[in-house]
Amino acid sequence: MGIVLITIFYYLRGIHNFMINEEKYSEKDFRQLFGNFPTGVTVIGMNENGISKGITANSITSVSLKPMLLLVCIDKNAASHEVLKRVGQFSINFLSNEQKDASRFFANSTSDTNNSMGGFSFLLGNNGSPILDDVIGWIECKISSWYEGGDHSIVLGEVTNMKIQDENLKPLVYYNGDYSEIA
Ligand SMILES: Cc1cc2nc3c(=O)[nH]c(=O)nc-3n(C[C@H](O)[C@H](O)[C@H](O)COP(=O)(O)O)c2cc1C
Repeated sequence: MGIVLITIFYYLRGIHNFMINEEKYSEKDFRQLFGNFPTGVTVIGMNENGISKGITANSITSVSLKPMLLLVCIDKNAASHEVLKRVGQFSINFLSNEQKDASRFFANSTSDTNNSMGGFSFLLGNNGSPILDDVIGWIECKISSWYEGGDHSIVLGEVTNMKIQDENLKPLVYYNGDYSEIA
């Protein structure tokens, strides 16, 4: 009996050693860990009633090749959230490392009603969304689905047009709460 109990004890202790203990964690830890995960930076462009608007976003992910789908997560409190819902289409501008200013500008709620896009030069794409000059490339999308994502919405876009403008440009990188670039 004693030997059986000792065997069970060591067996359970062995399993326990392979398990990670439950840890305390916070929103700060979550933000910090993702802050240490470098991403590229984009500006999502949209146009409503002839007025163009942008929002800086790094939550872009390619999802599917056939059909070509991608996703972006948009804060439910961002002004862009409701605009995107209404217009149902958008552009994605992949910023180069020389476009920090544009990233900073579109990371502030612009409530831009004079259609100037902060003075950053742009053209309108086929779907009417703004495409910034001097980006690495751009994609136009129509929104195919919305999903719940807590305080964000997960927006699935189907690609309707795209172009790589200059593959020699280096991407703008966001890392540790600051802008960076690939060496
Ligand atoms: C590098 C960077 C990445 C960001 N990524 C996102 C994102 O993926 N989704 C989002 O909703 N906001 C993101 N933001 C925050 C928005 O750009 C910011 O809240 C903006 O002011 C919203 O503008 P709006 O209220 O005019 O829509 C990001 C900000 C920075 C600086």
